[in-house]
Amino acid sequence: MQTYTFPDHFWWGSAASGPQTEGRFDGDGKGENIWDYWYQKEPEHFFNRVGPDKTSQFYKMFKDDVRLMKEIGHNTFRTSIQWSRLIPNGTGAVNPDAVRFYNEVIDTLIANGIEPFINLYHFDMPYPLQEKGGWLDPATVDAYVAYAATCFELFGDRVKKWFTFNEPIVCVEGGYLYQFHYPNEVNMAHAVTVGYHEILASARAIQKYHAGNYDGEIGIILNLTPSYPRDASNPDDKKASVLADAFFNRSFLDPAVKGTFPIELVEILKELDLVPESATEENVAIIAENTVDLLGVNYYQPRRVKAKESEEGSVHPMPDDYFDYYILPGRKMNPYRGWEIYEKGIYDILINLRDNYDNIRCFISENGMGVEGEERFKNADGVIEDDYRIAFVKDHLRYVHQAIQEGSAVQGYHMWTCMDNWSWTNAYKNRYGFISVDLDQDGKRTIKKSGRWFKQLADANGFSD
Ligand code: NOJ
Repeated sequence: MQTYTFPDHFWWGSAASGPQTEGRFDGDGKGENIWDYWYQKEPEHFFNRVGPDKTSQFYKMFKDDVRLMKEIGHNTFRTSIQWSRLIPNGTGAVNPDAVRFYNEVIDTLIANGIEPFINLYHFDMPYPLQEKGGWLDPATVDAYVAYAATCFELFGDRVKKWFTFNEPIVCVEGGYLYQFHYPNEVNMAHAVTVGYHEILASARAIQKYHAGNYDGEIGIILNLTPSYPRDASNPDDKKASVLADAFFNRSFLDPAVKGTFPIELVEILKELDLVPESATEENVAIIAENTVDLLGVNYYQPRRVKAKESEEGSVHPMPDDYFDYYILPGRKMNPYRGWEIYEKGIYDILINLRDNYDNIRCFISENGMGVEGEERFKNADGVIEDDYRIAFVKDHLRYVHQAIQEGSAVQGYHMWTCMDNWSWTNAYKNRYGFISVDLDQDGKRTIKKSGRWFKQLADANGFSD
């Protein structure tokens, strides 16, 4: 039997976001964001036509939910403030009901011994700003910084862990390359500008936070997808994998942690004449000087890459012009969702951060297993027996533990997610929670087997097997 014990004060908890849990998209003064707008305009984009009006109702049930978090061993919890709830038009007046709500959420978490980690942007552009271009418009960067400053002022006395963005690259991929977020375009030039403005907005929010001398720290949450070449001894495959890494990981990781951009990417953008106008000397300096205090790492799956073999199907210019994907023969798959499970990827990320990013303090801010049709694992008492999820967490934690033994500065593990929640265009297709939510029974919550197991894990600060 082997025991895996984690460092003292390890963060055990889960992550969620405002738009995916709160509900009441037009209630108590909340303004419209791009999800509310898109769903009303084109509901066919959403699985079973279920939109952001059908969430787990954290807005009215947060007290019960925090109690459940405590019951399953959380000492930390991440959610996001909805920009469109706090500042309904994106700029201007603050909504007093939102201030009351977020104050209550923060205070309830703290009163229950759960430290709130607060993220500022989780894919949820206020629609009035999107109408003017959203992240394409440099004025959105100013509006975001003003929103961030308002949050620090209102809640910074109690919130000690702030994050500027969750998975900023997903807004680029979804909105401007691969069509799963509004505005649903395919436009590489727009993709680059949007990405650059997010990076600049993050650096300027960090600058604001540090200038305010708040008692806390600020970081960013990135989804890192380690790239592996099909054949590490084949220079073309290797080059393809380095480029995929530059496009999809280092594009945000390098500026966030080091204040620089990967040279491979810069060269490609210059060649394509796609360096954004906003990349002025002044903005480059702001990015260089305002890096994160800590990093959240979301890890789900790796990226398997090979050299480009055909140009078929590609819309120029696209990142995919530079590499192809391949399926690793015999790879382990999540049988309930078509994603590869590669536990060692989490270790590779942490070791890469140790070796190439000055061992930046970090935590696993999301990891998890989406399951389609999870109802079928319900026992006679209505409890979902998700042994596969327990195995998934253990398999990843063994590697996190190994990375710690080898000097990684990783400080916690957050599961995506606590309650099953609404997942953008996938709506409720895949369930990820420690706790099931019955939408037909007024959102009734039932702790899954994994939730009970997580409590033991957190109490013991580790596990044996
Ligand atoms: C990452 C995102 O942060 C979250 O919003 C999403 O629901 C999960 N992954 C699952 O896909």
